[in-house]
Amino acid sequence: MKKIAVLTSGGDSPGMNAAVRAVVRKAIYHDIEVYGVYQGYQGLITNNIKQLDRGAVGDKIQRGGTFLQSARCPEFKDPKVRQQGIENLKKLGIEGLVVVGGDGSYRGAQRLNEEGIKTIGIPGTIDNDINGTDFTIGFDTALNTIIEVVDKIRDTASSHERTFIIEVMGRDAGDLALWSALAGGAETVLIPEFKKDVQEIADKIQQGIERGKKHSIIIVAEGVMSGEDCAEELKKYINVDTRVSVLGHMQRGGSPSGIDRVLASRFGAYAVDLLMNDETGLAVGIQNNKLTKTKFEDIFSSQHKIDEEMYRLTNELSI
Ligand code: F6P
Repeated sequence: MKKIAVLTSGGDSPGMNAAVRAVVRKAIYHDIEVYGVYQGYQGLITNNIKQLDRGAVGDKIQRGGTFLQSARCPEFKDPKVRQQGIENLKKLGIEGLVVVGGDGSYRGAQRLNEEGIKTIGIPGTIDNDINGTDFTIGFDTALNTIIEVVDKIRDTASSHERTFIIEVMGRDAGDLALWSALAGGAETVLIPEFKKDVQEIADKIQQGIERGKKHSIIIVAEGVMSGEDCAEELKKYINVDTRVSVLGHMQRGGSPSGIDRVLASRFGAYAVDLLMNDETGLAVGIQNNKLTKTKFEDIFSSQHKIDEEMYRLTNELSI
């Protein structure tokens, strides 16, 4: 393979730049020309494609966001629209494409692979909701961002003897909420994968107050309900001074953690290895600290699973 391209797609995540850097440097190391597709699939359609040399990815590994930019591009589901993108790549003689993104981006990548562009996916999303990998790029950084905020909120919650409801991202997955609840020592976590009674939460807060507890932190995953709805629900069962914090897009920003930079670098280089071996239609991942490859169709065939043991542990330690 002489020419490949790389793009970032869907919601950005810290570490995407490190992944692109690894793709570019690894490919150039092996005498392969690399092109960056700007603005995700949108840029593929509009031909926003430029060659990247080794210097183009200098000073990028530590940056949040994605210098290639990203977009949500529902039009890409249309085969005619995809064909335009394929033609743009073929005009430049590009045979392989690396797509850094989440589940939706993988679906586009799978179609492109079927339609003649050899494609590899790299899991890039803060949600950690992709099958075939223990971790996605950006999850660790987002987790650390949330923990920092939880620690700060705990200070003021305690000063004012308040209950705080902190709404975190994750789309339909509870990973960010669960991990931040365990790491942040939250009293309660609500995730889409397990139902929890609001009465039960209220009882726990009440028991805490009786034991002299000064505050209570509830982390709610956006996939369960909004922080405001959670506060409304809670009000039906207990009368406590409550505040809601919606962390929002701050969770997607910031310089990537060391873990995310290393993960992204390993994924990016491995994606190029696979393309050089003519292995395509695959997404890379990491399982038990070993790099893995999984067919796109296997990734879509089952639902992402939460770590049940961690859920139990979080509940046990937050008594
Ligand atoms: O998939 C990443 C994510 O940040 C989700 O956690 C969240 O639900 C969604 O993207 C927000 O999307 P947007 O940036 O398009 O509002």
